[in-house]
Amino acid sequence: MPPAVSRETKPTTPADPVRPEDVDLSVRLGPLELANPVMTASGTAGLGLEMEPFYDLSVAGAIVVKTITKKPRKGNPMPRLSETPSGLLNSIGLPNKGIDAFVAKTLPRLAGKARCLVVNIAGGCSDEFAELAERLDGLPGIDALELNISCPNVEDGNLPFARDPEIVRGLVKSVVDVTDLPIITKLSPNVTDVASIAQAAKDAGAHAVSLINTVLGMSVDWRTGKPGLGTVIGGLSGPAVKPIALRMCLEVKRAVDIPIVGIGGIVSVDDALEFLTVGATAVQIGTAHYKTPDVVARVVGELRERLASAGRRSVQEQIASLKAP
Ligand code: SIN
Repeated sequence: MPPAVSRETKPTTPADPVRPEDVDLSVRLGPLELANPVMTASGTAGLGLEMEPFYDLSVAGAIVVKTITKKPRKGNPMPRLSETPSGLLNSIGLPNKGIDAFVAKTLPRLAGKARCLVVNIAGGCSDEFAELAERLDGLPGIDALELNISCPNVEDGNLPFARDPEIVRGLVKSVVDVTDLPIITKLSPNVTDVASIAQAAKDAGAHAVSLINTVLGMSVDWRTGKPGLGTVIGGLSGPAVKPIALRMCLEVKRAVDIPIVGIGGIVSVDDALEFLTVGATAVQIGTAHYKTPDVVARVVGELRERLASAGRRSVQEQIASLKAP
């Protein structure tokens, strides 16, 4: 008698291996198209031009410029950096030459060098953010703006912006109203409910959110009693914050339908892929620049091979592939 269930199965053909050159690295952050998902994080790659000795800027998915403010700023008292285990504390204080110098001197040298140029801006109030956005709107070479509402190191402060959904809503709307540029809103980890802040940014018209900025922290020499930073308290970045950043990206992904740019302690292609797995569409690499200035080019260079080795045909297939309830 034949068995009730045939043991015969169709001969299986193992899935064709994916060739690295066939992997599609492109991603979209709303209207912003990126050739690959790897960006520099604001403040760690200068104005972009400083990275030219290390790699061709067009290799990066996007170059994000250090925060530009309305007026020139000198920045905070030294010391501004303090190294900690697997991390780096900073309190730089947004030093820059101001928007006039950026537009007149830097932008003409920078325009066209990156495939995508994102200018990070910060103001002391919503109107100042809007003023900066209006000034940059339509200038050749700029592809998007990132709103730094989350720097912990300025006295006149943008951290309070990032903590209050109503303030974020008003601030983002005031920017969106005056520019056609895609808007990425950079969020702080120093909040209780990051998803509610991301939701406010989305409701006001932001096209993406980037997170996390630095985690409030401090260091101290117990012998001298001296703090590691001139401002005592600053922001922690580097591998030490990666688990916090992954958790916060996941919280936003689960609650808000908006593209996420993951930031926090990425030093390798595997770190970058972890952020994509929890739902980020793109990533920014920051502190790793201080050890490996060409880290962005290295990660971009390894991405195709790494995705192909896991059978992925595109970055898109990796995004939000987390297996969790
Ligand atoms: C700084 O310039 O103090 C760092 C920038 C930031 O954390 O947003």
